[in-house]
Amino acid sequence: MPKVTILPDGKTVEVPAGTTLLAASQRSGALHGSACGGVCACSSCHVWVQQGFDSLSEASDRELDILERAFGVKPNSRLGCQARVGSADVSFEITPESLQTWVDEHPEERRQIEAGALPAGVPEELGSRLRKLVRR
Ligand code: FES
Repeated sequence: MPKVTILPDGKTVEVPAGTTLLAASQRSGALHGSACGGVCACSSCHVWVQQGFDSLSEASDRELDILERAFGVKPNSRLGCQARVGSADVSFEITPESLQTWVDEHPEERRQIEAGALPAGVPEELGSRLRKLVRR
């Protein structure tokens, strides 16, 4: 099975081909926002693919339309809920926009971060970024 590496969490997970990047994140426990629940309606699952871009499923016109709404779109941008893993290993970075969505969608964890703690399993390297997000 292909290995998926998820930044900035630094988590890795093996998933069957056909798994979306968002589902891989959720399986790994990475902090990946998805305001619309993965139905290609919000762009909050935006990622920058670092490795394996060409092995992913082809982007649909709908995905490209929604992706235009995202912040910081780059040539290696995809929507995590639409891009599916092929047979190759993949690595991608969850964008700050998506991380912000995750924080906004998890009020209990947000309160923890505001109080100076980190949710279970969140690496300290990610802590400073999360603390900045909750101050917004
Ligand atoms: S979760 Fe909304 S577009 Fe992917």
